Order: sequence, then C-alpha cells, then structure tokens
Amino acid sequence: MTERWDEVDGYIGDLFVGRDDALDAALAASDDAGLPSIAVSPPLGKLLMLLAKAIGARTILEIGTLGGYSTIWLARGLPADGRLVTLELDGKHADVARSNLERADVADRVEVLVGPALETLHGVEGPFDLIFIDADKDNYPGYFEHSVRLSRPGTVIVADNVIRDGEVINDATDDPRIQGVQRFNELVASDTRVSATAVQTVGTKGYDGFALIVVG
Ligand code: SAH
Ligand code: DHB
Ligand code: MG
Repeated sequence: MTERWDEVDGYIGDLFVGRDDALDAALAASDDAGLPSIAVSPPLGKLLMLLAKAIGARTILEIGTLGGYSTIWLARGLPADGRLVTLELDGKHADVARSNLERADVADRVEVLVGPALETLHGVEGPFDLIFIDADKDNYPGYFEHSVRLSRPGTVIVADNVIRDGEVINDATDDPRIQGVQRFNELVASDTRVSATAVQTVGTKGYDGFALIVVG
C-alpha cells in the first residue's frame, strides 16, 4: 500500500528538488549495480546540503557512502575548495560512488576511503565542520566517539536512522542494529560535550528519524 506520506515525500521532492540529472543518474547507476535502495530521500539529502551551507562547512566527514547519493548532496554544500571524506566498507559501493561523484562534478572535493570505518577512522584527520553518520547501525556508538574526537566546538553531527519504525523504544529487542541505535541515543543524550535532539520522519523510506548533535 502506498502511504500518504510517500506521495507527500514525492510532492516535496518535486517541489523543492525537482529533476536533477546527476542525482537521478546516481540512483539509476546504483540500482543497475545492484546496490540496496537505502540512500537518504531527496528532502533529507537537500537538508544535508542546506545544513552544510548554513554553517559554512569547509570540511565534511561521511560514514557510509553507498553509491554516493548523500555524498553528492553534502559536497554541493561545500565551497569549491572544500573537502569531504567519505568512508565505505564495500569496494563495489565505493566504485559506483566514485563514478557517480565524477558525473556530478564533485569528485575533486571528495575522497572515498574503503574499509571498515571503525578502523579507517583512526587514520582520518579532523577537525570536521559537519559529520554525517549513516553506516552499520550496530557501530553507531563507536562512530559517535570518533565523531566527537574529530570535531571542534560548533561541529554539527547528523545521524540517520535513529528511530527505526519506533523500534528504538522496544527494550526487549534482540536486533543488534536497534540495540546499536539505542546505545547511540543514550550515549549522545548523556554526553556533556554535546547538545542534541532527535527528529522523527516519515516518507518514501517509511518511519524513521535522524539525530542532530552540536558539539560544544
Ligand atoms: N549515506 C548513503 C547511504 C549509506 S547505506 C546515502 O544516503 O546515499 C550504508 C552504507 O554503509 C552501505 O554502503 C554499507 O556498505 C556501508 N557500511 C556498512 N558497514 C560499514 C562499515 N563497518 N564501515 C563502513 N561502511 C559500512
Ligand atoms: C538501512 C540503512 C540505512 O542507512 C537506511 O537509511 C535505511 C535502511 C538498512 O541497512 O537496512
Ligand atoms: Mg540511512
């Protein structure tokens, strides 16, 4: 069944994003390569770009590249001499992303690093102005610690998928991905180095939400 919020997400996408050759091609190429359809929605992608612009971000870190759809949005929020580092476990995903970033004309600003992010992060140099966490949910607590380490006062951290159909309030869950997000939310909420909230969303990707965290 098509939920009404699917159609409304389409309405928002048509109205505020519209057709965009590079983004449309990125999704088509990701699909053709067999990548899962789990990129951020167009409205959330645009929100990431707007956030980057609003804070004047010059350096961005992304954890979880997939085919680079969110990466393109984030990179578009950077000035021409800005820098974006994105981390991806799967070499095939990274290859698709690199070609999508090339087509979108942002490859010069973006470095795609392949490997398990918890390991790659040790070799990444900060600080970053904006960090987007969107990789494997069981490792979100570790990604938060690294993100704070790679931040400066004022750094904005966005974490996708922190509501998961409302399962986040199911204390009896045995799903490590939900448990990861639960631990993440609790860590963030109790960490005096940051100030944060979480926002529920509905749309083409169902019922979920994101956390918005400011360091300092
Ligand atoms: N940010 C993307 C979607 C990311 S989907 C977008 O909105 O367009 C999550 C990605 O995280 C997948 O590509 C998956 O391969 C990757 N991933 C999973 N485990 C990982 C790990 N341990 N380290 C780095 N990336 C990982
Ligand atoms: C999944 C991952 C995501 O980052 C997302 O936004 C939706 C789904 C997943 O692994 O199923
Ligand atoms: Mg996600």
